[in-house]
Amino acid sequence: MDMIDPFGRAITYLRVSVTDRCDFRCVYCMAEDMAFLPRKDLLSLEELDRLCTVFIEKGVRKLRLTGGEPLVRKNIMHLVRELSRHLRSGALEELTLTTNGSQLWRFAGELADAGVRRINVSLDTLDPEKFHAITRWGHLDKVMAGIDAAQQAGLGIKINAVALRGFNDMELPDILRWAHGRGMDMTVIETMPMGEIDADRTDQYLPLSVLRAQLERRFTLTDIPFRTGGPARYVEVAETGGRLGFITPMTHNFCESCNRVRLTCTGTLYMCLGQEDAADLRAPLRASEGNELLSAAIDEAIGRKPKGHDFIIDRRTNRPSVSRHMSVTGG
Ligand code: GTP
Ligand code: 5AD
Ligand code: SF4
Repeated sequence: MDMIDPFGRAITYLRVSVTDRCDFRCVYCMAEDMAFLPRKDLLSLEELDRLCTVFIEKGVRKLRLTGGEPLVRKNIMHLVRELSRHLRSGALEELTLTTNGSQLWRFAGELADAGVRRINVSLDTLDPEKFHAITRWGHLDKVMAGIDAAQQAGLGIKINAVALRGFNDMELPDILRWAHGRGMDMTVIETMPMGEIDADRTDQYLPLSVLRAQLERRFTLTDIPFRTGGPARYVEVAETGGRLGFITPMTHNFCESCNRVRLTCTGTLYMCLGQEDAADLRAPLRASEGNELLSAAIDEAIGRKPKGHDFIIDRRTNRPSVSRHMSVTGG
């Protein structure tokens, strides 16, 4: 029953973008005037639940809700509570989400009550003005209140920071100390060329080998085998006692151990973040009440999962490698 792709990789991790909308407009993620999908095109929460359930029956053990911003989807907690039955049955090992943190102050307690154990919060700077500049619409104090609420509720937190040359490279050591000081893991991420944005990605791009060398002037980093099922490779930081992960799609391809696929809020399945090929699951979902057609469509899609992405940041053209924005698949 397990989903095995043509390269022998078992698919055990499903990332579900529950909405393409977001209450921020991070400059590396979206253009300021992003056009979002008409609400009528969204799958209902019941349909998303049915899709997730079929994936779990087919071997998914880790399910992450993303967006856009997942917590701006109407009634999202209803979906989280429904999906948590798979945690209680033991079919699912982890139900989690990646959030910009803006709504966490409101939802942290309910998430913990529903069985969510840890969440990933995107945070690229601790400076309120820079935060407002990078997110265009965000307010740092709201996110901080959300992080406080999440920790009070007992949720584990990983801080995600996209490494951006000239924006936060100098500040990343401080963010690291802050995150570890609060008992949170942290990952740094290389910016990926997805979708047209207003900023110049060649200017922003910082290879993490460069960042690691910079960090090693201040910290003692030791590679550790800690893995979460995501793409990060972790080190332990002796001076803080915390974990730092490097997510290096541009400089070190981690695709050979890929275990994941991505489902959008319209029922499109992307087999790879860095490729355009996709499969429509909405038609087989709606074609019958049974799941046979859907299951066959998923098998067919997994059967053409590509070997990996071929992201390039092209100095000459500055064109994105894939035209869709990160917010379509939630990373
Ligand atoms: P953990 O479960 O905590 O390991 O989280 P995760 O790294 O799987 O998920 P998260 O949503 O925190 O993603 C962090 C970054 O990794 C985002 O920028 C994602 O786009 C990126 N990422 C996750 N999976 C892949 C992948 O398969 N390919 C590429 N290129 N990037 C990925
Ligand atoms: N490249 C790398 N990471 C990105 N994210 C959003 N857009 C990009 C991009 N172009 C990150 C967010 C969030 C995660 C889901 O993806 O900051 O942490
Ligand atoms: Fe929203 Fe996340 Fe994109 Fe920022 S990176 S605009 S928070 S979806």
